[in-house]
Amino acid sequence: MYRGRTTLSKFLIEQLHEVTDDGQLAGLLIDVAAAVKTIAAMTAKGGLGGYLGAIDNTNVQGEVQKKLDVLANDAVIGSCEWGGMLAGMLSEELEDPYAIPAEYKRGRYLLNFDPLDGSSNIDVNVSVGTIFSVLVHDKETAPDTADFLQIGRRQIAAGYAIYGPATMLVLTVGKGTHGFTLDREVGNFILTHPDLMIPADTSEFAINTSNERFWEPPITRYVDECKAGKTGVRGRDFNMRWIASMVADVHRILMRGGVFMYPRDTKDPSKPGRLRLLYEANPIGFIIEQAGGAASFGRGPILDHPAQSPHQRVPVILGSKNEVERIERYHAEYDAGTDKPYASPLFQERSLYRSEA
Ligand code: AHG
Ligand code: MN
Ligand code: MN
Repeated sequence: MYRGRTTLSKFLIEQLHEVTDDGQLAGLLIDVAAAVKTIAAMTAKGGLGGYLGAIDNTNVQGEVQKKLDVLANDAVIGSCEWGGMLAGMLSEELEDPYAIPAEYKRGRYLLNFDPLDGSSNIDVNVSVGTIFSVLVHDKETAPDTADFLQIGRRQIAAGYAIYGPATMLVLTVGKGTHGFTLDREVGNFILTHPDLMIPADTSEFAINTSNERFWEPPITRYVDECKAGKTGVRGRDFNMRWIASMVADVHRILMRGGVFMYPRDTKDPSKPGRLRLLYEANPIGFIIEQAGGAASFGRGPILDHPAQSPHQRVPVILGSKNEVERIERYHAEYDAGTDKPYASPLFQERSLYRSEA
């Protein structure tokens, strides 16, 4: 029964055989997978492991850290710092990039990561994840902060783990997007979802509508049209989902299509979006593009968005290609002053609430 299964190691040897780096990238991804198994074990213990709840600290984002944010961060660093593959790491949970300790060999890659995505869901036993992005550091010297600020197009690998009913690892090395499921008894990731492709059309969207009053008009227009369903310009009904773990929302979109939006909003004018470019938007954008979807900040591809600071936030709109292109068009029409915001049929001419006079 185990014969013929494609393990993560076998898959990486096959996919990366042309990369001349002495197996460093494959080795790094195996180390990331080891960290994922550790985090999977901790999240699965839940209240039994004493892992729930917050600690008395806020991170550089100004967010209260959960115990598991810190433990997951330690798991990734501990698993990846010693192998000689990395020149440095950048984590959501650390203000500055993490320097590889002097006792270890320095390698040619950089790892940007969100150790635990969706951490507001930990205490309520809803799926969370880990997101990571691999960049090349082609200098002999140790990296400084500027070396991590590369555009997403330069990523050579990216992935996420989802700690759901099953733990899965979804990754790309630029040759499609592939999903592995953790066989817990054996301890191996097995290729179960090769060549994932996102349908170009969808009738499902994901957005936190409690922020509606802060959105830009193109987003309000799109969501209003979806909500109008059959009675509006779209001519069909839409469904809505919001898990508040980006990895879980993205995973659903990879499985059956959909569009995910965390757009620019005016809630906090100092933050042009909620999600972070280097370890959330870029790796997920790479995975989505490799699965035939689109990833945009509303006014261009996420993967071409310039990176200015380690924890920079950006608007994120991604998923089924035709819907993302439509939302980009709504932004372009709004910017050009040619948009036609959705008007409820109740308030249009000859409507219930509008007199003919
Ligand atoms: P993190 O837990 O790493 O800070 O990320 C949480 C993100 C993302 O996963 C999710 O889509 C979004 O925040 C949820 O935001 P709301 O709380 O506004 O729904
Ligand atoms: Mn996150
Ligand atoms: Mn996080």
